[in-house]
Amino acid sequence: MPYPTERLRRLRKTGALRSMVRETRLHRSNLIYPLFVQEGKGVAEEISSMPGIFRFSPDRLQAEIAELASLGLVSVILFGIPEKKDPTGSSALDENGVVQQAIRTIKKEAPEMVVVTDVCLCEYTSHGHCGVLAGEEVDNDATLGFLAAMALSHAEAGVDMVAPSDMMDGRVRAIRNTLDDRGFSHVPIMSYAAKFASAFYGPFREAAESAPAFGDRRSYQMDPANRREAIREIDLDVEEGADIVMVKPALAYLDVLREARQRVLRPLAAYNVSGEYAMVKAAAARGWIDEQRIVPEILTSIKRAGADLIITYFAKQAAKQLEQT
Ligand code: PBG
Repeated sequence: MPYPTERLRRLRKTGALRSMVRETRLHRSNLIYPLFVQEGKGVAEEISSMPGIFRFSPDRLQAEIAELASLGLVSVILFGIPEKKDPTGSSALDENGVVQQAIRTIKKEAPEMVVVTDVCLCEYTSHGHCGVLAGEEVDNDATLGFLAAMALSHAEAGVDMVAPSDMMDGRVRAIRNTLDDRGFSHVPIMSYAAKFASAFYGPFREAAESAPAFGDRRSYQMDPANRREAIREIDLDVEEGADIVMVKPALAYLDVLREARQRVLRPLAAYNVSGEYAMVKAAAARGWIDEQRIVPEILTSIKRAGADLIITYFAKQAAKQLEQT
C-alpha cells in the first residue's frame, strides 16, 4: 500500500473543487450593517477610530441607504446620538428623536430594508450608563420601564425589530409585554443575550459618545471569563421571549457562540464589534495584513462557529467582495 492512503489534498486541487466542498458560505442577507445617526442637519462625519464608518444626520441617510440596497444588503441596526442627554435618557423616548426620525426616513427610502434598533440608554444618559441610577448603582428594575418605553417608541415609528443591549435582568420580558399590550406583537426581539464587558467596544464609545462618566459596565455586562453564565443568559432570554439571541463580541468569544449554537434552536447572531473592525483597519493601513483576505476569513470564522447573522461594520466591503465571487 502506498503511503499516505488518505489524501485530503485531492479535493483542494482547483477552485471549482474547493467551492464544491466548501462547508460554510457567507451571504449578504446574513449581514446587518450598523448605522450611527446623529441629531441635527447636514452631518456626515467619519469616525476617526473606524475609518470608512460615518455618523449621519437623518437628512443625510438617503444616499447611504441607497448604496446599501444596491449592494444587496437587507438590514441595518441603528444607534442614536441625541443632542440632549439627561439622567434618565428621556430623549430616547421622543417620538421625534433621532432614531425615530431615522426609522421613518429609511422605511420611506427602502421599505424592504429590515430596520433594527439598539435599545439601550447609554447614548442618551448624561452619565453614560445603560440604565437609570440609584446613587452610583444602575437600578435594574427602575430601568425596565424606560427600555420598554423606548422599544415601544421605535415600534410606533415603524421599526422592524428591536435589539436590547443594556443587560438588565428581565428586560426581554418587559419589552415583549409592552409591545404585545400595545399592538406590536409582530415586532421581533433580538436580544444581546451574552454581552461581555469588553475592551473591544472602545471605538464604538467614541462613535456614539457613550462612555460611562464614572465607573464601568462590569456590574451589568458579563465577565469575559464566564461561558456557563453566558449560556444561562441565553436560556433566560429565550424563556423571556427573545426571537433571536446574540453573542457579543464575536472573535474572542467563538467558543461561546459554538456552545450557544449547539443548545439553541432560535437564530443566533454575533456582533463583530468596533474594536475588531478597528484592529483590522489599523493593521491594514500599515500594510501588515491583507484586508481583502482577512475580512472574509473573519466573517467566515464567525459563521463557522455557529452564527446565522453577523452584525458587522465590514458588511459593505464584504458585500462588494461577495459580488465578485
Ligand atoms: C450600547 C451598545 C454598545 C455596543 C453596542 N450597543 C456599547 C457598550 O455596551 O458599551 C458596542 C458595539 C461595538 O463596539 O461595535 N450599550
